[in-house]
Amino acid sequence: MTKYAIIGCGHRCQMYFDAIGGDHHDAAALVAMIDTNPGRIGVHRQNMAQAWGYDAGSILTGGPDELEAILARSGAERVIVTSPDYTHADMICRSLRAGYDVVTEKPLTIKAESAKAIAAAVAETGRQVVVTFNYRYSPRNCALKEVIQSGEIGQVTSVSFEWVLDTAHGADYFRRWHRDKNNSGGLLIHKASHHFDLVNWWIDDIPARVFASGGVKFYGSDSVVARDLGPHSPRGTHDGPHSPFELDLRDDPRLKQLYLDQERHDGYLRDQDVFGPGVTTEDNLALVVDYRKGPSMAYSLNAHCPWEGYRVGVNGTLGRAELLVVERSAVLFKDDKVEVLDPSYSGSDTDDSVRPVGEHLLVQKHFAKAEERPIVAVGSGGHGGGDVRMLKDVFDGPGEDPLHRPSDWIDGVRAIAVGVCGNVSLAEGRAVTPAELGLPVER
Ligand SMILES: NC(=O)c1ccc[n+]([C@@H]2O[C@H](COP(=O)([O-])OP(=O)(O)OC[C@H]3O[C@@H](n4cnc5c(N)ncnc54)[C@H](O)[C@@H]3O)[C@@H](O)[C@H]2O)c1
Repeated sequence: MTKYAIIGCGHRCQMYFDAIGGDHHDAAALVAMIDTNPGRIGVHRQNMAQAWGYDAGSILTGGPDELEAILARSGAERVIVTSPDYTHADMICRSLRAGYDVVTEKPLTIKAESAKAIAAAVAETGRQVVVTFNYRYSPRNCALKEVIQSGEIGQVTSVSFEWVLDTAHGADYFRRWHRDKNNSGGLLIHKASHHFDLVNWWIDDIPARVFASGGVKFYGSDSVVARDLGPHSPRGTHDGPHSPFELDLRDDPRLKQLYLDQERHDGYLRDQDVFGPGVTTEDNLALVVDYRKGPSMAYSLNAHCPWEGYRVGVNGTLGRAELLVVERSAVLFKDDKVEVLDPSYSGSDTDDSVRPVGEHLLVQKHFAKAEERPIVAVGSGGHGGGDVRMLKDVFDGPGEDPLHRPSDWIDGVRAIAVGVCGNVSLAEGRAVTPAELGLPVER
């Protein structure tokens, strides 16, 4: 039985609370919750009592300023970090130095300097940092890994990777703290670190040079769309008709309870106008990335597409593998509302016959016809059952894994390396290397 403290009690922590209270209650116990917002802590503490029979009073709570004291008093043995991206490095380093192993959500951190600080804290303490890259566990991503690892398409020479976020899930990044690049590192770090981790893992390589181009072209107060809008509300929670880009927190009991009802504690608005001022996170990005062993990648990310999903092509010396995924076919504005949820986690009921929701893995060897490979769900729950398998590795400890999915802080640095270099490239208009930024990518 390992005792856990969770830092950051907003949305993402729920998966860990449910795992600790449910499937992993034999191996894990929750002893502390840390957050800047006492109201959100209260909601989750009450929920642990109602959903999983915890004695709410037995869970110690407090703000990040009291981190070391709460960890010591609660008897915690391991820390889980689910606070905003810009806070990760501080929370990780302090927890390590206080004597605890850490499990952290992606991204490990958002800058080169804070990545170096984590490397120093790990070297000093000898403690472990696990980064929970749940996309690695998604059966479709595992199926592509198996094809590449088997050598079937030969030595990888290049990758093309296009990810599109829709006007529901994609837009949601521009309502929250993520819209300010200082908080999230932009989507190149916040979102695409998942994608760049997948590539590092799929092709077993390390990024060596990055050129990036892109900008804030759709959201924000300066876009063409914003200029044509006319007067509009600074937030989505208001009476009267809504635009398809607005989120009224009163429509979702969970969002209302976690955010709207807790604004009085910290003033944080979860439903900001995506066409309002303050958006510095780019919504259109294109990158060229070179890898150490020779492959290159063309990558693009768009955050205002009418559908959501991704296409990956991996070219090898013996053929090509292609993964095509549609997570949501369309975003429809029904009854003055759109569905904001991440379709990869929650599933989607917006499907159509022209672009059906689904996933296809094709393998085509030179001088042969394409073959479709099966993608087998490993259970129920988010990401085709992948999240359940990842949580088993986190709470029970990883066993032998032929796909090498469990990830540590170095995988975390390698995953943000493309985004960190990409952000410098965006600012300076040149190709940038992880080496020149001193990113600690070596194992
Ligand atoms: N792997 C995935 O698929 C996935 C999905 C969602 C979120 N995430 C990650 O989880 C993390 C949290 O995201 P979220 O969507 O839950 O955000 P959120 O805003 O819902 O929750 C963050 C919580 O952290 C609290 N907080 C802010 N500053 C803090 C600090 N200094 N110390 C402690 N708590 C602090 C906030 O009050 C809030 O309750 C992010 O790093 C995000 O990238 C990962």
